[in-house]
Amino acid sequence: MKKFVVVLAAGKGTRMKSKLYKVLHEVCGKTMVEHVVGAAQGVQPDKIVTVVGMGAEEVEQVLKGKSDFAFQKKQLGTGDAVMTASKKLAGQAGATLVITGDTPLFTSATLQNLFEYHLKKGNAATVLTAEAPAPLGYGRIIRDDQGNVLRIVEQKDGNSEELKVKEINTGVFCFDNEKLFAALPHVGNSNAQGEYYLTDVLEILRTQGERVGAYKMPDFSESLGVNDRLALAQATKIMQKRINDEHMRMGVSFADPETAYIDTDVKIGSDTIIEGNVVIKGKTMIGSNCYITAGSRIVDSKIGDNVTVTSSTIEQSQMDNNSDVGPNSHLRPNSLIGDGVHIGNFVEIKNAKIGANTKVGHLTYVGDATLGKDINIGCGTIFANYDGVKKDHTTVGDRSFIGSGSTLVAPVKIADHAFIAADSTITKDVARYDMAIARGRQINKADYWHKLPLSQNDDWK
Ligand code: UD1
Ligand code: CA
Repeated sequence: MKKFVVVLAAGKGTRMKSKLYKVLHEVCGKTMVEHVVGAAQGVQPDKIVTVVGMGAEEVEQVLKGKSDFAFQKKQLGTGDAVMTASKKLAGQAGATLVITGDTPLFTSATLQNLFEYHLKKGNAATVLTAEAPAPLGYGRIIRDDQGNVLRIVEQKDGNSEELKVKEINTGVFCFDNEKLFAALPHVGNSNAQGEYYLTDVLEILRTQGERVGAYKMPDFSESLGVNDRLALAQATKIMQKRINDEHMRMGVSFADPETAYIDTDVKIGSDTIIEGNVVIKGKTMIGSNCYITAGSRIVDSKIGDNVTVTSSTIEQSQMDNNSDVGPNSHLRPNSLIGDGVHIGNFVEIKNAKIGANTKVGHLTYVGDATLGKDINIGCGTIFANYDGVKKDHTTVGDRSFIGSGSTLVAPVKIADHAFIAADSTITKDVARYDMAIARGRQINKADYWHKLPLSQNDDWK
């Protein structure tokens, strides 16, 4: 038995009030349509066809390699949308799952259950339904006295009796593929929205004497359809709980899982502790036994084991084992922090490699630089990397000591075992074992106090 999937993703999503096409809005760091295709892949279909229209190029871009595409020129309704996939699917024996691209929470397990139920019953069409506490906006499942499914009525077409029904169409169906494409040309558009509704296929098949049915899933929240920003936030909340629950099952501790915002593809090792109000995004990987404190934001970064991140921001960077950063520091893109490195308070690092066990403790900017091992960078050091036109590079060798308040003006090379006296402005290379001092000399003038105007009102003699 061949399995096919059709994903409907051609609509604009007017109710989102957005320049971005609806199915491209993200839930926990992944577009809705990618969530849907990901769940569909779990049933191991022979082919997935995504119907694109508005924003076709962008949607095809995010699904490249995961789906075939059919193009719907005008958004004439969900029935018309499935029709556009007929070139790729019509006439083939098999079962076809149709799912809307704006339902990001479905799991593969649920879709698999629907498939199995559909095949076991020998149905021509099976709709996946759920009992919605607030069904407003969804299509309603209309059954007869014996509980047989008669048809689906859309919100805008339903009479007051029909709209009282709480069992809704989740937007997912399983069809006999050949019967689906034979029935679609019979769908009309005389309804409140003037659209060709996919939902009408059920009644068409039933009146042709085919078996149609419904598979009711126990958990409504999985079927949440996202039409506006309120539902987008609800979907994010539900997905977030799923993600954090899974991390906890795998040995990650959360001080407050409700306020830890972790994207779908993030990986976290066991015994890592995550405090509240932490954001971890993109393709970030965090090792074991790390401690990420409140207010941290980590994006597309790789964090080793035993790393402490204290209320800091890390973007597209790497921290090796046993290193630490913060509080209130910022690792900007391409900061490579070595093993056992200490980055302290109010430090900004950008495009720099920092060797093992080096310390950058306080109030420092390191940009466009290569630092060796076991270096001490004093408080308030500035790597002056920009001349107003281009960026230049600074190198500091192993075991060197940079005194507090120094400015290293790039391009400049400081050898290993070099010593820079505090408050120096370094513009020339410094050799191994040398000390560089570049600051005004101090002169002390004896008894100068008495020559100062302020000594006049000095009542202490
Ligand atoms: C649809 C169902 C409704 C169900 C709900 C579940 C119909 C007629 N209604 O309503 O019964 O309860 O989903 O979430 O099927 N699309 C296209 N081309 C079109 C129109 C829509 O590709 O011409 C796509 C949209 O991009 C979207 C999906 O189909 O991803 C659903 O369309 P939408 O307008 O959101 O339908 P609902 O009103 O939510
Ligand atoms: Ca919808």
